[in-house]
Amino acid sequence: MVLLLAVEGVGDTLQLGQLLRQALAFGLIGPGFGAAAPVRGGKIPTCPYAGDVDLVTEARALAAALLAEQLPRRWSHVQAVGTKAAQVSAVLEGSDQSVLVAAAWLHDIGYAPPLADTGFHPLDGGRWLRSQGFDDRVARLVAHHTCALLEADERGLAEDLTTEFEREESATADALWYCDATTGPDGQDLDVLDRLNEIRARYGPNTIVTRFIDRAEPQIVAAVQRTRKRLADVGPDHPM
Ligand SMILES: [Fe+2]
Repeated sequence: MVLLLAVEGVGDTLQLGQLLRQALAFGLIGPGFGAAAPVRGGKIPTCPYAGDVDLVTEARALAAALLAEQLPRRWSHVQAVGTKAAQVSAVLEGSDQSVLVAAAWLHDIGYAPPLADTGFHPLDGGRWLRSQGFDDRVARLVAHHTCALLEADERGLAEDLTTEFEREESATADALWYCDATTGPDGQDLDVLDRLNEIRARYGPNTIVTRFIDRAEPQIVAAVQRTRKRLADVGPDHPM
């Protein structure tokens, strides 16, 4: 109830994260909030992640509050990306694991209508997370997820993005790109090239997004390949 009021009744979106945090702190929503909705069409295994529960719980709750009702198809995708990230976090160590999983839950939060400002969802999402005082590394990873800089360039927003958010090149960033770029719009697992072609087909030729995908494909595929190698290196208990 608190969350519905927050989404529907609070015009100032800056208050939403604060309300969610209060709801978590007072036990009005639990650690499982946002995890109940089914993932459609995917083969996502159960989540073994047991790291920084608070960061991930908060990320999942924010994503659920902003996406589940308003953008259910996007929410299906995000749930699968978040769940996959928990598996893929095996390639990381320490706090990198919770940062990855939190960023995965939040990576598309900029699509939420209350947050849309520039219309470029990585930048809108990163800015909003920073305005909420959320973990700044997560905000930076969200702002730059899946080669966002090249789409920002297509939209005339590259300087805004690079000025405001430092781009991280790391196994954590690669893993986030991997999870997004191998998960379809309904949460299904896809080969990365099939995923990129699905995006091209959905947005159509001669669009900003398709031009971006054409330019970004080598970088996205390289991040996926690096992550696949890391997954292979950690052994058969973590097949993806
Ligand atoms: Fe995504």
